[in-house]
Amino acid sequence: MYRDLREFIGLVGEMGLLRHVEGADAYLEIGGITEVAASRPESPMLLFDSIVGYPRGFRVLTNATFNIRMAALALGLDPDLSPLDALKAWKVKSGRTKPIPPVVVKHAGFLENTMRGPEVDLDRFPVPHWREHDGGPYIGTSALVVTRDQQNEWTNTAIYRVQKHSKNRVTVQFDHRGRHGYMIAQKYWDVGKPCPIAIAIGEDPSLFFAAIEPVPAGKTEYENAGGLKGTPIEVYPGPETGILVPAYCEIVLEGLLLPPDQQTLLEGPIGEFTGYYAGEPKPCPVVEVTAVHHRNDPILYGAPPLKPPRGAHFGPFRAARLWNVLEAAGITDIVGVWPHLSSLMIVIALQQRYAGHAKRAGLVAAANAYMGRLVVVVDEDIDPSSLEDVMWAVATRCEASESIDIVRNAWSSHLDPRISPDEKSRGVTTHSKLIIEACRPFAWKDQFPRPTAMSPDAARRITAKWSRALDGGSNRPDLGAG
Ligand SMILES: Cc1cc2nc3c(=O)[nH]c(=O)nc-3n(C[C@H](O)[C@H](O)[C@H](O)COP(=O)(O)O)c2cc1C
Repeated sequence: MYRDLREFIGLVGEMGLLRHVEGADAYLEIGGITEVAASRPESPMLLFDSIVGYPRGFRVLTNATFNIRMAALALGLDPDLSPLDALKAWKVKSGRTKPIPPVVVKHAGFLENTMRGPEVDLDRFPVPHWREHDGGPYIGTSALVVTRDQQNEWTNTAIYRVQKHSKNRVTVQFDHRGRHGYMIAQKYWDVGKPCPIAIAIGEDPSLFFAAIEPVPAGKTEYENAGGLKGTPIEVYPGPETGILVPAYCEIVLEGLLLPPDQQTLLEGPIGEFTGYYAGEPKPCPVVEVTAVHHRNDPILYGAPPLKPPRGAHFGPFRAARLWNVLEAAGITDIVGVWPHLSSLMIVIALQQRYAGHAKRAGLVAAANAYMGRLVVVVDEDIDPSSLEDVMWAVATRCEASESIDIVRNAWSSHLDPRISPDEKSRGVTTHSKLIIEACRPFAWKDQFPRPTAMSPDAARRITAKWSRALDGGSNRPDLGAG
């Protein structure tokens, strides 16, 4: 597997999915090109160089994990699998993966260049101001925020967004106080101390994945990333803080996360993954950056949230967790679980075995779908990854008066655009979830009209035999295709 982000970029290049862009502006243009490219069917990876106002070599990378083939590659899967087969493969692989502790190495790529104290100057990097209504430039939209507890027994890494405010000041945005990074910092702040912090930018995608998946408090995400790659993550202690950071990430900021009663700065807003802005700027904890290290020709990897379905990091693969939850709850015969619209809509395909089977699956999924307003359950003949197929099932198998349920006051977030300003000001973060059973009614499913479409196997046989004629290459069957 790839060793670092550079090797991953090389592999994506070999797949023909890398585009080089020269001469773009970090102010709005990189963000704009990223959004337009993510809207294309192949959603290519973009490597920006010769950015307006910056020396050649100071690069920005975007769209690294949206395309399902790239996401598969990042997780060590065969990128040529069909989307549903790739998800199944990940479900199996992730179930077998065991954590592998990181290894401390003697050299670090990021030590090729260092700025310390008064030399620290974040203006040297082309930090994108992604969109017009964002509150400022963001140096971290996919950066690992690394903290270490006071007893030095737990290193936590997570993706929290990082806004750049000046040459040596950034903010870290914690969604809530239960974030592990916040909990670690709180213990320093409680005794009046700043919390040492490292921000690793341009980490490899296994680390990005591990940092967004839930990991119990006290465990380090480096172990999960190592498990995913099948080899230990190479880490190196930051020279200022001693915090272990990936040795081959591109840029490292080290510094102190100041107690909020000493200093905060107004942060945000940033366009969110729902496709909306969630609110006004808020005061956030500040990092005083005391050292910056970077590789030669550094790559600032950015992953700005985009309007769904564009911004789904790692495509459908994070849904394997929900699939496992459904199975752990005793739901059998699931043939697919698919997150649409950046997981705001979940589809479960299953073979109904008993009355209430589909409803049971829908309820468990609804209880576990963070911010997911829509849960749709379909039969096994529907491809859950195809919105057209799913909507055909909804339009033909769901009787609205019988097959729709609403679960009220369910799990959402302050990012939810449909919670009213008044409710938000009262701290409401719940919404209702719609469960649509788009299955043949269990009681008479065997009498449900037969679908006209041929089976996937029959379609495959026809394609093999007649594809030359259909592609315009011949008007005869390909007899070799059987
Ligand atoms: C692209 C992306 C950006 C994220 N940004 C934030 C953020 O700004 N603040 C936050 O608290 N969580 C954010 N998250 C969610 C956390 O990274 C995620 O819940 C993580 O598991 C939290 O780790 P922790 O349990 O160690 O705190 C983001 C997730 C993704 C996928």
